[in-house]
Amino acid sequence: SVSSVRDVFDRPMGALRISLTDRCNLRCRYCMPEEEYAWLPRQDLLTFEEIERITEVFVSVGVDKIRLTGGEPLLRRDLPELVRRLAGVPGVKDLAMTTNGVLLARHAEPLREAGLHRVTVSLDTLRPDRFAEMTRRGTHDEVLAGIAAAVATGLTDLKIDTVMMRGYNDDELADLIEFGRTVSAEVRFIEYMDVGGATRWQPEKVLSRAEILQEISSRYGSYEEVRRTDSAPADRFRLPDGTVFGIISSTTQPFCASCDRSRLTADGMWLRCLYAITGTDLRTPLRSGATDDELRTLITGTWQRRADRGAVDRLSGRADGQVFVSLESLKRDP
Ligand code: GTP
Ligand code: 5AD
Ligand code: SF4
Repeated sequence: SVSSVRDVFDRPMGALRISLTDRCNLRCRYCMPEEEYAWLPRQDLLTFEEIERITEVFVSVGVDKIRLTGGEPLLRRDLPELVRRLAGVPGVKDLAMTTNGVLLARHAEPLREAGLHRVTVSLDTLRPDRFAEMTRRGTHDEVLAGIAAAVATGLTDLKIDTVMMRGYNDDELADLIEFGRTVSAEVRFIEYMDVGGATRWQPEKVLSRAEILQEISSRYGSYEEVRRTDSAPADRFRLPDGTVFGIISSTTQPFCASCDRSRLTADGMWLRCLYAITGTDLRTPLRSGATDDELRTLITGTWQRRADRGAVDRLSGRADGQVFVSLESLKRDP
């Protein structure tokens, strides 16, 4: 990142994750537990003009990576138009999207043409029955078709994000790695997190980084750690045949110390941590005539006071003065 602004722990501002809608077409049990949601009314969502402008302001203070998220970002109408605008903002070095893949088959090509650099597809299982049980929707075929379409249209650097849960998909580690190889995607195993809609989270359900690596080495013999070059959440590993996979150990080995990420909700609330419970309303100044300079001052001043390290606090049991995780209940690296 080119940012010179630093927070309380000397962390620069690097990546901004922009939620385009709070809606989703799946109901994954670890993310959206209930069936009935009161979705945001359309007028509350930031418009494309507002998203483009706020992106320009963030880029001017050092953000160089933009990730479009949701909810499910592909539910936002005319998405290629937004992508075209953001791809045209000078200083956006990386423009990526995280999607559940259900609608990707029909959108991959227009998105690539509009200038999207890369996509990450969430896929937790290769088994249709498990997919239906977890997501409460029977669209596994469509996700696989979406991944195929992303490959076919030439969206490079494809990644697959897999939340690992004990007793659900922990027997699919090798199958998912093999699948990733067939579509030239890097699979990243994510530790199940006590966050957001994960109302049924239990420490026993977390398959830890240590356990994942143990399973991988018993299956493949060995692996080597790939040297890090950035502040991304994933640790990467290479198998003897050259296949690379990642592990995102948010729960047992948090990476808050190098976190340069923040989030913008679909209605314009700026959050400095995945676990944040308060944020800064950027929509109101955007809609009441704030100048770019005023927005910059608000953003950099707020970042300088940032002291969030939600995952570290969770692990050490200090969040809200309550013990969420007992260290003993999590298997850690030796
Ligand atoms: P790359 O640049 O492709 O490496 O993207 P990324 O890994 O930052 O983005 P992605 O949306 O693919 O993130 C994958 C998963 O990592 C998310 O779904 C979260 O589960 C987790 N994650 C991402 N960012 C954070 C973060 O800042 N804190 C924590 N605790 N977890 C995160
Ligand atoms: N734990 C870990 N990852 C989660 N995601 C959503 N909820 C959780 C959770 N409780 C991930 C999804 C997807 C991304 C958008 O967020 O798997 O990859
Ligand atoms: Fe960053 Fe918060 Fe995630 Fe830690 S928990 S890595 S501070 S977003």
